[in-house]
Amino acid sequence: MARVVILLGPPGAGKGTQAVRLSRELGLPHVSTGDLFRENRAQGTPLGARVQEFMDSGRLVPDDLVLDMLFDRVSRPDCTGGYLLDGFPRTLPQADALERRLGTAAKVQAINLAVADTAIVDRLSGRRTCEKCGNIHHVKTAPPKSAGRCDKCGGELAQRTDDAPATVQKRLAVYHEQTEPLEQFYRSRGLLDEVDGGLSPDAVFQALKQVASRRRAS
Ligand code: AP5
Ligand code: MG
Repeated sequence: MARVVILLGPPGAGKGTQAVRLSRELGLPHVSTGDLFRENRAQGTPLGARVQEFMDSGRLVPDDLVLDMLFDRVSRPDCTGGYLLDGFPRTLPQADALERRLGTAAKVQAINLAVADTAIVDRLSGRRTCEKCGNIHHVKTAPPKSAGRCDKCGGELAQRTDDAPATVQKRLAVYHEQTEPLEQFYRSRGLLDEVDGGLSPDAVFQALKQVASRRRAS
């Protein structure tokens, strides 16, 4: 049976950082709706143009645009055995749509990476992302070996346009209002696990591995 693992958590919780490692560990492709939108923007597609104003103001992209793009992505052959979702679902209608699509054909696990709001601003103001490969650094907690250059590919590191402090506050408010209710959605179905995202990146990864293997065994 296919396996679908969902990483929930506020902006800056470490979803992207951990998804890269967990995807390798579980052998599941990493599917990030935020990365897919950013790729569309970088390539200048019509979808990229439509989502720009939502992303840059810290609001969510409308559900229909997200769902079309996501379902198209997970229809590709590499997702036949399952996938690891980062940044999706983000609203109850998105969670409903995913549930309807999967039916009983997949084993679903949602893992909530809990991080206090107070830690988020520091994490996001210090984040530097590679413009070429998307690798995530942080000026203090994950600094690059060579200033301004990605450790993985040597590409240029840049700040995300939505990491300006006012936009981060908006994204946090949107998270509490529209995405946090998904914890209850998955808890009520017995599909939710919790991990303390405030620990070091390595400790978070160990905890994620543990809950992922416990679920697989159950
Ligand atoms: P998206 O790209 O998904 O952004 P997000 O959810 O706001 O999350 P981030 O990517 O900012 O944080 P993260 O949890 O991945 O943290 P990271 O690992 O980078 O979405 C962007 C926008 O796209 C949305 O606002 C919306 O407009 C749109 N969108 C996307 N999906 C959508 C959907 N489904 N529906 C509607 N709209 C959608 O880590 C952050 C920093 O912290 C890094 O610098 C990292 O090095 C550091 N760090 C990581 N872990 C730790 C740790 N344990 N300790 C210390 N520092 C750490
Ligand atoms: Mg991310």
